[in-house]
Amino acid sequence: MKTRRNPSTLFLPKPVALISSAHAGRVNVMTAAWVNVVCMEPPQVAVAVRESRLTHEIIQASGEFVVNVPSHDLWRAVDMCGMVSGRDQDKFALAGLTRERAAEVAAPMVAECPLNIECRVSASLPLGSHTLFVGMVLAVHLEEDCMGEKGSIKVESFRPYVLNHREYWSMGRRLGSFGETAAELEVIP
Ligand SMILES: Cc1cc2nc3c(=O)[nH]c(=O)nc-3n(C[C@H](O)[C@H](O)[C@H](O)COP(=O)(O)O)c2cc1C
Repeated sequence: MKTRRNPSTLFLPKPVALISSAHAGRVNVMTAAWVNVVCMEPPQVAVAVRESRLTHEIIQASGEFVVNVPSHDLWRAVDMCGMVSGRDQDKFALAGLTRERAAEVAAPMVAECPLNIECRVSASLPLGSHTLFVGMVLAVHLEEDCMGEKGSIKVESFRPYVLNHREYWSMGRRLGSFGETAAELEVIP
């Protein structure tokens, strides 16, 4: 039995990322849960940013941003970066995060995050309250401790977590592998 609800943004789980940006001497970092991969070739990611955010202003001016994916150990610092605007505080200092120079963009990477994705805006789509910034991936940095054999990722070292509605949850146990069910499918020629 299900209950019909009003149209809303209810969706779970959502990834959690820190979006770092910089322009004309201003450097900022903001928490985003409305972020994901949107294209494989060429690789692109997208983040939906509310127009009132400082991050919106900076990305629009610079055309660049970095998606920094945190481990669950960082959840408090990440939550903090979503509670305060960079207009009022230096959030790197506030949350105890370290700026690391990126390779392709002026925005710094967040050193504590095991994955940093440098992006140049390839499209901006104003949708209403939020603008969808699509970012062409220019460079990807992955913590060596999280690298497994043959390009695999050691998820237990990465320690990803998600936002489930209004609660942060770390991952429990491994369930299976991508494509594992393919062998069970009967392909009709
Ligand atoms: C877990 C979490 C997820 C969030 N996701 C988004 C998001 O996807 N887009 C957005 O515009 N704001 C999001 N916010 C709110 C911004 O992070 C928050 O308003 C922040 O203070 C904006 O910072 P800025 O003004 O320095 O850019 C989120 C906040 C939290 C705590």
